[in-house]
Amino acid sequence: MAPAPRVETNEIKSSALELIGNTPLVALDRLHPGPGRILAKCEFMNPGGSIKDRSSLYMINAALRNGELKPGNPILEVTSGNQGCGLAVVAAVKDHPLTIYMSAGNSEQRAIQMEACGAKCIRVPQVEGVYGKVTYADVQAAEEECLKTVEKTGHFLVNQFYNEANVQAHYEMTGPEIWRQTGGHVDAFVATAGTSGTFSGTSKYLKEKNPALKAYIVEPEGAEVIAGKPVWKACHKLQGSGYGVVPALFKYDVMDGTLSVSDEEAVQYKRLLGVKEGLYVGYTSGANVAAAVKLLQAGCLPEHAWVVTMLNDTGLKYSPTPDEVKSDDS
Ligand SMILES: Cc1ncc(COP(=O)(O)O)c(C=O)c1O
Repeated sequence: MAPAPRVETNEIKSSALELIGNTPLVALDRLHPGPGRILAKCEFMNPGGSIKDRSSLYMINAALRNGELKPGNPILEVTSGNQGCGLAVVAAVKDHPLTIYMSAGNSEQRAIQMEACGAKCIRVPQVEGVYGKVTYADVQAAEEECLKTVEKTGHFLVNQFYNEANVQAHYEMTGPEIWRQTGGHVDAFVATAGTSGTFSGTSKYLKEKNPALKAYIVEPEGAEVIAGKPVWKACHKLQGSGYGVVPALFKYDVMDGTLSVSDEEAVQYKRLLGVKEGLYVGYTSGANVAAAVKLLQAGCLPEHAWVVTMLNDTGLKYSPTPDEVKSDDS
């Protein structure tokens, strides 16, 4: 029998790059029955398992467009891991060698993931924190190692903390997606900040669409520098955010306030997302949702406000400690 003729459909993605973005928005109505509503972007559904796929795609495309990166040439970056996993997706599809410098304190699942996509991951010993808790000094140690290689080789450094294409990814993708998915009904946006690309780009777009929208940064308790407080707890569980320095890409004019979340609250809401919503996510996702609940309970928004936040990455990227798995969520 002759094979059936091939029919082109738009159901086939041409590569993993087309799987980046357009993540679903899910209502957390079981975890927070009201008043008000929390809607969360499922960033763990990106092919690299986190929100950082978006900026990976934008930063590489921008560098190829402006000639900083030539097709097929090597790429270097320092990361808490998720940027490395996202870059590994992009580098695999576009066929670039990729070397990632990451603190040994960041979860080893991320190193395994990026190496499975063909990247090399150099895990730099910690100078201050402990495994699972990475401080700014630890990131600086990884950065120092990476910069030595940049100096020696002249290879392209992505530079996520200073790269405006990082912010642009969220201004052109995340913000418009939220606006479309909510039908323009969004009263507040809540997000943690590492580079602050997510917060700065998304908030800028949403505020342009609705100047009355309120945008809040989520900071780990004890490292609330955007709130203007001194750092007394550099070591916390919110890997990838809250480095205790105001990020260079952060824009104060698109922020209305800050919300502080303790490790215990992040763990509690990480667990609640699993047991009440069936969503297995990481610590900053737990922190975002804890902060959204606090915001709705604070009474500073209209009673039936919709708060949008981000489920930044999958829980599969971490090794929770046994006490966390059993923790009581009552
Ligand atoms: C798990 C996680 N949450 C939040 C963030 C913060 O995202 P951004 O760098 O866009 O501020 C990161 C960044 O690496 C991350 O890995």
